[in-house]
Order: sequence, then C-alpha cells, then structure tokens
Amino acid sequence: SQTYRITLLPGDGIGPEILGVTVEILKEIGRQFDLSFEFSEALIGGSAIDAVGSPLPEETLTQCRASDAVLLAAIGGYKWDNLPRHLRPETGLLGLRAGLNLFANLRPATILPQLVDASSLRREVIEGVDIMVVRELTGGIYFGEPKGVFATESGEKRGVNTMAYTEGEIDRIARVAFETAQKRNHRLCSVDKANVLEVSQLWRDRVTALAPAYGDVELSHLYVDNAAMQLVRWPQQFDTIVTGNLFGDILSDIAAMLTGSIGMLPSASLGADGPGVFEPVHGSAPDIAGQDKANPLAQVLSAAMMLRYGLHQAAAADRLETAVTTVLDQGYRTGDIASEGSTILGCQAMGDALLKALNP
Ligand code: NAD
Ligand code: IPM
Ligand code: MN
Repeated sequence: SQTYRITLLPGDGIGPEILGVTVEILKEIGRQFDLSFEFSEALIGGSAIDAVGSPLPEETLTQCRASDAVLLAAIGGYKWDNLPRHLRPETGLLGLRAGLNLFANLRPATILPQLVDASSLRREVIEGVDIMVVRELTGGIYFGEPKGVFATESGEKRGVNTMAYTEGEIDRIARVAFETAQKRNHRLCSVDKANVLEVSQLWRDRVTALAPAYGDVELSHLYVDNAAMQLVRWPQQFDTIVTGNLFGDILSDIAAMLTGSIGMLPSASLGADGPGVFEPVHGSAPDIAGQDKANPLAQVLSAAMMLRYGLHQAAAADRLETAVTTVLDQGYRTGDIASEGSTILGCQAMGDALLKALNP
C-alpha cells in the first residue's frame, strides 16, 4: 500500500475539534483505499506561541517540508490579538505559506443542492453556482515592502503596507488560473482595481498578454468593487476567478456565504513543487470554540482536496465528498447550516455520521 506522511496543524480555537474528526475519517478512507497515512502533529499559531514562544517554530516548517501534504485547521484568537506583529498567530500562517512557497490558493465555492435554503440569498440566485476562486497567496499587500508603523517628522505615526506584484508573480498565478479554467467551464474572470492602482494595471496587462496561449478560455476583467457586487447579484455568471491576495481573501468570504456557511468552504494552497497545505477558508471561530458546535465539513472537504490535488488519489477524494453529500441528504446539519426539518448535530456527532456514511 502507498504510504503518505501527513503533517497535522490543529492550531487554535475550533481547530483541534474539526481536525480530530477529520483524521478519524481519513483513517477510514485509508483502510478502504489501501492508503497508509503517517500522521504527525506540529505547532502553529497561538498554541505554538504559548508552548514555545513562536507562532511558527522552525521545527514545524522542517516537518512540513518533509511531508507529502499538510492538513491545517485554523489559527488565531482574542488571547493573542494584542501581541506585537511578529508574535501573532496570523504571522505564523503567513510564514508557513511563504516558507513553502504556496503562491496559489484554490477556493472552490460550490452550492450543494441540499444547502440551497441555508444561504441568505434566494434559491434562484444561487442554484447551480460552482465557482473556483484562484487567490494569489504569497505576494501583494500581505507581503509588499515597505511595511510597518513609522514615525513622521511631526512625530505622528504612519502605518504603511505596500501592494506590489512582479510580472513573474502575476504570470505564475495567471497560468494556474487559466489551466484551472481549462479543466472547468473555460471562463476566467480576473479581478483587480486597475482603474486606480498601478499594480493592478500591471496585473491586468500581464493576464491579458497570457490569454492568447489559452485560446479555449474566455477571459474577462472586473474591478473588485463591481466583482463583490456581482458575486451577490448574479453568482451564476462566474466560473473561475483569479485575483490578488487581499481581494481574494475578501471575495472568497463573500463566495462562502453563497454556499450557506463559511463552515463549508475548503481550500488548497499549492506551490510549484513540494507539499501543499490544505486548509478551510474559515478561521478559528473563537466564539464557538470548545463547545462542540463547529461545522467540520470545510475541514473534511479540505482533506478531500488534499487527496485530490496533493496525493492524486481522486477516487478516495470522490468517496469522501460523497460521504459529505450523503450526511446532508440524511438531513444532518451543524448549527451554522441548520434549516427547517434538519437534525442538528455537534462537531463530533457529524464526524460519526460521516463515518457511518462511509460504512453503510
Ligand atoms: P472566523 O472564520 O473564525 O469566524 C467568523 C464567523 O464564522 C464566526 O461567527 C464563527 O463562529 C463562524 N464560523 C467559522 N468557522 C465555522 C465553522 N467551521 N463552523 C461554524 N461556524 C463557523 O473569522 P473571524 O472571527 O474573523 O476570525 C477569528 C480568528 O481566526 C482571528 O484570529 C483570525 O485572524 C483567524 N482566522 C484564521 C484563519 C486561518 O487560520 N486560515 C482564517 C480566517 C481567520
Ligand atoms: C484566510 C485568513 C488569513 C488570510 C489570515 C488569518 C492571515 O483570513 O486564510 O483567509 O488573510 O489569508
Ligand atoms: Mn480570510
């Protein structure tokens, strides 16, 4: 049987709850598909700060680099919100993405028919929506220099971040996006703010220049403010979206609400080579942490993305995704996606329902 080394990063808040459930499910998938997973945990985020004083200990990066894939839950929480920037949980996550060179973040927003009524939008607006947001993940305003809070001559403080992209950074994410669109419905919408920002004009020019190499993909462009509006107005118009780091962060949370809950949205963070990190789009949900209320499905679906994109085990990924639709068909819901007539389960019980669905 094939052996895979998986680094688990439970992180903070609901992280350990949703990842615990997911690992049990992966073990079952492993048994069924003759895959053997060697799981090992490592520290990241606030729990790493508490344990060893750093949000991304060097050993964590080393361990991730030596594995076949990384399954990350979520980081962050009130407790660490007032630490200096270099000691914040979020800095650990950004360091992980940069350290593994994970420049491409795939965030699929698919409306499952079972959850149409869980969305805050009307059925006819969201039915059939199937969007892939390709978010640039290691550049843009998250990483641009200069950054910091500096004293001005008058003694007033000035906060600075810089939105910057090189041609090379734009080209490599654009290629991933064009190739993604080729495997989907052959439509790519590039989202920027080229009417105002020079960095966005360069983005638009490069994406446009690459388009002829992908003649079977229909390319369009939207300004980010309009794109945010269009996502809510008429989401069915979108197939693949490519955008920069900050715009992608915001647009993917909007896309999440189309699906009913951010607790449903998985993602894959990929580099040119080396292991990918598979992580839900949502955060550590400190408001419900430790209460067995979290929806584990974004994490479970992130594990499916790990099987599909990281380990190239498509059949196992399909099986896992089918188990998710089965429990939804059975009427099981966590609180965030509850609707009339459904059976509300906690995180752990949802995991048990998935295990049952895998062993009918
Ligand atoms: P959040 O995504 O953690 O929570 C937003 C809302 O969605 C909350 O009401 C929460 O209860 C709910 N929610 C999120 N995931 C859920 C799930 N699986 N099941 C049910 N409900 C869920 O965003 P936030 O509150 O803005 O941030 C909280 C912390 O998480 C912050 O420290 C932030 O920096 C961090 N964060 C981390 C990641 C990550 O690790 N990738 C992503 C986003 C935010
Ligand atoms: C996400 C999160 C992160 C981001 C934070 C926690 C650094 O919001 O993964 O979407 O902004 O990328
Ligand atoms: Mn986010």
